[in-house]
Amino acid sequence: MKVKILAATAEHAVFAERICNMILESAKQRGTGIASRTPEYIAQKMRDGKAVVAIDTDLNRAVGFSYIETWGHGKFVANSGLIVDPEYRNMGLAYKIKQRIFNLSREKYPNARIFGITTGQAVMKINSALGYVPVTFAELTDDQEFWQGCKGCRNYDILERTNHRMCLCTGMLYDPEKHKTLWDKSLDFIRKHNTRAQRTRFRWWMRSRKQKQRKLVRFGKGKK
Ligand SMILES: CC(C)(COP(=O)(O)OP(=O)(O)OC[C@H]1O[C@@H](n2cnc3c(N)ncnc32)[C@H](O)[C@@H]1OP(=O)(O)O)[C@@H](O)C(=O)NCCC(=O)NCCS
Repeated sequence: MKVKILAATAEHAVFAERICNMILESAKQRGTGIASRTPEYIAQKMRDGKAVVAIDTDLNRAVGFSYIETWGHGKFVANSGLIVDPEYRNMGLAYKIKQRIFNLSREKYPNARIFGITTGQAVMKINSALGYVPVTFAELTDDQEFWQGCKGCRNYDILERTNHRMCLCTGMLYDPEKHKTLWDKSLDFIRKHNTRAQRTRFRWWMRSRKQKQRKLVRFGKGKK
């Protein structure tokens, strides 16, 4: 079996129905509720370039999937709908899908915080490897639409009772600010300070330096 992990495009929309069924089937087996995702919703994510699909190229079959959702006007990104075909589990496929969708999210939304809520040990392990850390729900998006997605879960009453402050899921967050390299910080500094006012101030400073230099030369005190 040969499995390819691809950034999904419109041509993969044909797999949307199968992916939807895989998600529904696994939710039934786990006895968890699930945010309703129609094949059309998944197909649209593929057309928008906001999804990753794993394809068994020998069988031309989708065997894994995940997609990007944005919340709080793009300040937060969630990688949702992770699914791997039961026949393809425990082979490291979820790791590869999550890494790919994570990279895609960072490319598309470099300043967004990437988060997820989960009870799954596998997802917690993968998230930790990607640099996510466990956080309280207060640090996640307060976009009501995101929390509405929990309505299908059988534990929703707990979330309501605690005013969205806690539930059985663990919240995990990747904050790009905390992963900035020295290079990123330097670029930020240049962007911040390379304003018109800063450039004008710099020109004035250079001019006054030259004037001082000329005066010193005139009075025989400067470098010859
Ligand atoms: C969760 C799921 C995506 C994992 O897919 P997978 O391809 O089997 O995962 P991987 O092989 O990449 O394994 C990732 C890690 O999780 C561990 N893991 C996998 N399944 C696990 C399970 N059921 N329980 C505990 N740990 C598990 C693996 O051992 C591995 O850890 P390691 O690096 O220490 O060896 C898959 O089981 C699935 O589709 N489940 C149903 C849908 C679901 O739960 N989605 C997540 C919603 S939040």
